[in-house]
Amino acid sequence: MRRARAQDVAVEDLAREQAAAELARLAKEIAHHDRLYYQKSAPEISDAAYDALRRRNDAIEQRFPALVRADSPSKRVGAKPESGFAEVRHAVPMLSLNNAFTREDVEDFAARIRRFLSLKDEDAIELVAEPKIDGLSASLRYEDGALVLGATRGDGSVGENVTANLRHVRDVPHRLAGRAPGVLEVRGEVYMARSDFAALNRQREKDELPLYANPRNSASGSLRQIDPGITAERKLRFFAYAWGEMSEPPGDSYWHFLDRLRHWGFRVNPKARLCKSPEAALDFYAGIAGERASLDYDIDGVVYKVNRLDWQQRLGMVSRAPRWAIAHKFPAEQAQTVLDRITIQVGRTGTLTPVANLAPVTVGGVVVSRATLHNEDYIAEKDIREGDTVVVQRAGDVIPQVVEVVKAKRPKSAKPYRPHEMCPCPLKTPTAREPGEAARRCTGALACPFQQFERLRHFASRDAFDIEGLGHTHIEKFREEGLVATPADVFRLHRHKAKLLEREGWGEQSVANLLAAIEARRRIPLDKFIYALGIRQVGQATARLLAKHYRSADAWLEAMKNAQEERKENPDEMKKAEIVGPSYAELRSIEQIGFGVADEIVEFFGEQHNLDALETLLGEVTVEDFVAPAAAKSPISGKTIVFTGTLTAMGRNEAKARAEALGATVASSVSKKTDLVVVGADAGSKAKKAEELGIETIDEDAWLKLAGSQ
Ligand code: IVH
Repeated sequence: MRRARAQDVAVEDLAREQAAAELARLAKEIAHHDRLYYQKSAPEISDAAYDALRRRNDAIEQRFPALVRADSPSKRVGAKPESGFAEVRHAVPMLSLNNAFTREDVEDFAARIRRFLSLKDEDAIELVAEPKIDGLSASLRYEDGALVLGATRGDGSVGENVTANLRHVRDVPHRLAGRAPGVLEVRGEVYMARSDFAALNRQREKDELPLYANPRNSASGSLRQIDPGITAERKLRFFAYAWGEMSEPPGDSYWHFLDRLRHWGFRVNPKARLCKSPEAALDFYAGIAGERASLDYDIDGVVYKVNRLDWQQRLGMVSRAPRWAIAHKFPAEQAQTVLDRITIQVGRTGTLTPVANLAPVTVGGVVVSRATLHNEDYIAEKDIREGDTVVVQRAGDVIPQVVEVVKAKRPKSAKPYRPHEMCPCPLKTPTAREPGEAARRCTGALACPFQQFERLRHFASRDAFDIEGLGHTHIEKFREEGLVATPADVFRLHRHKAKLLEREGWGEQSVANLLAAIEARRRIPLDKFIYALGIRQVGQATARLLAKHYRSADAWLEAMKNAQEERKENPDEMKKAEIVGPSYAELRSIEQIGFGVADEIVEFFGEQHNLDALETLLGEVTVEDFVAPAAAKSPISGKTIVFTGTLTAMGRNEAKARAEALGATVASSVSKKTDLVVVGADAGSKAKKAEELGIETIDEDAWLKLAGSQ
């Protein structure tokens, strides 16, 4: 008979050597999952499974205190402080890509470009198509031909300095060949070949180490090794495909730029093709989809990029994704499995989201054991029941979904799903569903511990206050122990230092690390602050729009409070912004802030407890004014512009983007705050209103001169 593996033996039955081996395994495994959770936001296992690992570790340590390891997970607060990599601010942000899933999406992409650039029918849009490598992006900085800095993407603005490790990636030249610009940042994808991945996992299996789920996770884990020697053993590779800062222009076309990359000594994907039209690019996609299985690296789609670099320049970007590129993703991967139970997750604003708890199944290289069911209408429409066999789908980074039920496999006993009438939190607050809304909500507001937890988690998360080491496990514990309830409490945690030190497994060092991480975040840019508040529908993009418009926390808060007052006085006129009042109208005049978002913001400011929480928080932190990205000094910087009527030389969107690049704010309606109105052909009421208010107006020619295009 085979001896039971140590990991299958109950804690009380473990022999001493087995216990030591188990602690070693658990330390590695937990560190691995911490990294996935904290650094990649891509956990592979459920929270419950993770907690079970930690509990097992703690239990073994309790039985064998002498075996507690120096790198024991019980001594650590999250993964970040351990990562030990310095932060690097990218000179030019690292962008992400918008996705296309269908042929129509790609055609829309081309049509948008056509409109934006006001192209004539006979103007062809050349696209470079290249496989979308499923790895992680990195930026390499060369000065006078020598590699001086290598960084991960991080959140796009700030990444980690992993220079020492990137030097061990084959395909990363240490010195550039030929004549290269004095400053050159080359970006591309670090990945692990499938063959190397398989060999690595075979070795890990022998060593009884946890296996990597897929080449991408494995590449990411390998690049973030503290010991560059380990990275070196892992055989990572690199395809170059973009540039960041460059001391000379990249050239006229992307296709030519790829040539230059090759000359400097980089590897460029040999499959990249110059396509004369979007149709040709779609043919390329079909071809690559057919070859996918035979490639020695994972790809999850094809990237199309506008070849002309002057067009790329004009197209610019929206919300951190270029308008000149798109990722055409391969269809989602699917698998069948059994849905064991439907549980409820409570969001930070009280929305109840039903979650499918599944028998674990591998979908596209990742083990899936939970999937979202969206809301009760979704469940009813598909008649999803506990016990059903379901089809699960996973596409790219999105949360896995249950797409359909295999009715033929339904057990006789399966009963239709009944919506939860009570919040699953310990208070068991009743839930309610507003007419016209898909979501059911917990009515417990601030009192609901689940909402409290989610709000705190959001508050401390990477894109908000980004507090290293304050992950979900700690938040939950601190909350249960009464150490934190509101966001401001996070910044008062130092008052509980004595209590923190008493906590099991916590030493001086871990407490000091956590408190230092909190102190380091007492200053925060306005956009992150707004996002951190967790107002419904106010995601990162909207928070940035608000920050950009109002510039300071004081100005924003005052305007929001006024808008709230105005709305209270005119409860029925919300859709007609001007009638509600000037502050509300101003909020609605911000491009992309519609009625629904404005409504949520104003509602947030209508709740006294939110105002109180904000005030206490502002007593703890300093919010930095929004600093406009180094926009060119121009005659319109700092001004508010409205476009009206038809523009012929550049599309409306390009005009807006151009104005913003020149430092102006573009509004959609004319008000006293407008500085300039650009009047195109057939302009209507806005031009008239500008005249009435005595606001300066100019025609399209004057605008083109101003915008530097003539
Ligand atoms: S271009 C503006 N090209 O996909 C330039 N990205 O979903 C942005 N990726 O963060 C990237 N292969 O990590 C580009 N051939 C390729 C790519 C590629 C993979 C990744 C990259 C990026 C992500 C966006």
